[in-house]
Amino acid sequence: MPNKFASKSENMENKKKILITGGAGFIGSHVVRLFVTKYPHYHIYNLDKLTYAGNLENLKDIEGHKHYEFIKGDITDAPFIQRLFEETRPDAVIHLAAESHVDRSIKDPLSFINTNIIGTVNLLNAAKAIWEPEMDKHLFYHISTDEVYGSLDHGGFFLETTPYDPQSPYSASKASSDHFVRAWRNTYKIPIMISNCSNNYGPYQFPEKLIPLCINNIKNNKPLPIYGKGENVRDWLYVVDHARAIDLIFHQGKIGETYNIGGFNEWKNIDIVQLLCRIMDQKLGRAEGTSEKLITFVKDRAGHDLRYAIDAHKIMNELGWQPSLQFEEGLEKTVDWYLANESWLQNVTSGNYQKYYEEQYK
Ligand SMILES: NC(=O)c1ccc[n+]([C@@H]2O[C@H](COP(=O)([O-])OP(=O)(O)OC[C@H]3O[C@@H](n4cnc5c(N)ncnc54)[C@H](O)[C@@H]3O)[C@@H](O)[C@H]2O)c1
Repeated sequence: MPNKFASKSENMENKKKILITGGAGFIGSHVVRLFVTKYPHYHIYNLDKLTYAGNLENLKDIEGHKHYEFIKGDITDAPFIQRLFEETRPDAVIHLAAESHVDRSIKDPLSFINTNIIGTVNLLNAAKAIWEPEMDKHLFYHISTDEVYGSLDHGGFFLETTPYDPQSPYSASKASSDHFVRAWRNTYKIPIMISNCSNNYGPYQFPEKLIPLCINNIKNNKPLPIYGKGENVRDWLYVVDHARAIDLIFHQGKIGETYNIGGFNEWKNIDIVQLLCRIMDQKLGRAEGTSEKLITFVKDRAGHDLRYAIDAHKIMNELGWQPSLQFEEGLEKTVDWYLANESWLQNVTSGNYQKYYEEQYK
């Protein structure tokens, strides 16, 4: 089915209101920046609870933009979400807000169920309430992950048609939210799209995830904890390429469709960490091999999926998307960004970033 929302939005007179959830997070901040700077004829609302993972410093460069508005709020709060939709009447939603770290989901699954499932259903309900009876002028675009497909062994790729087989509380909550989004399409005719992306890396990622954690630890000469033997394989994509894919799907994707996004770029964790050590030794002027000595193997994550690999041919063939960077180039850019943005990293690791909202917005 054609994407009527996007065809209407080409009319510059017609200022569309786009609600982006989770826009203060890692990927969300790249999506907000892209939409605010590329589409001055949109009004962008960024709805974010500012959990530990939400950081408004990520958006310092665009916060004064007249077509951008930050709204602090929790998607699990149904009455608040309902009121917000009634007041702002967004034409479309790009939904990224989520609890996103697998290790945290193992310790505290309920917060993942609340945010990722209940929060998504609250947004769907609120959208349905204000979009009826003109559903087809709107769009609910849900951002999901390749982890919903489960774990691959040594062969094959995840296709859009691969049956869901989530293995962690995080991936089970994301899989469930995907099902609810499709159910709202089937039952209430909400125009939806879903994309499932592989692992992202790049600037503004919270340093609990593998790549920024290692960059930060190498810099500070701290151990580099690697689960098991570091044999787990992930397919890595530069975050800006994910944001570009989201832009393309939002404007040119077909209603009701799912798009897999990935870089055909599989790496074992141990190989990434060794590559990072080599890049960092060079950048920090350390003797070759210095940082590798920091590698420390730790007890494997419970139920650790062995391998994820996305087949991204659909988005490449149908929408013409291609990743713009080779992995080595993207990784070097990422290292350069973290080294150049020491105060961002310091604020994040010390917790000071959480004061930014108070200082800026109160
Ligand atoms: N990081 C990846 O590699 C990756 C890959 C594929 C898909 N995804 C998906 O992309 C989305 C964004 O991921 P990310 O890595 O940027 O996550 P993130 O953890 O960096 O950011 C999540 C954002 O959501 C906000 N948030 C959390 N709970 C909220 C709530 N109850 N109400 C409102 N806001 C809330 C946080 O404050 C934060 O700003 C998620 O849906 C994730 O599942 C991530």
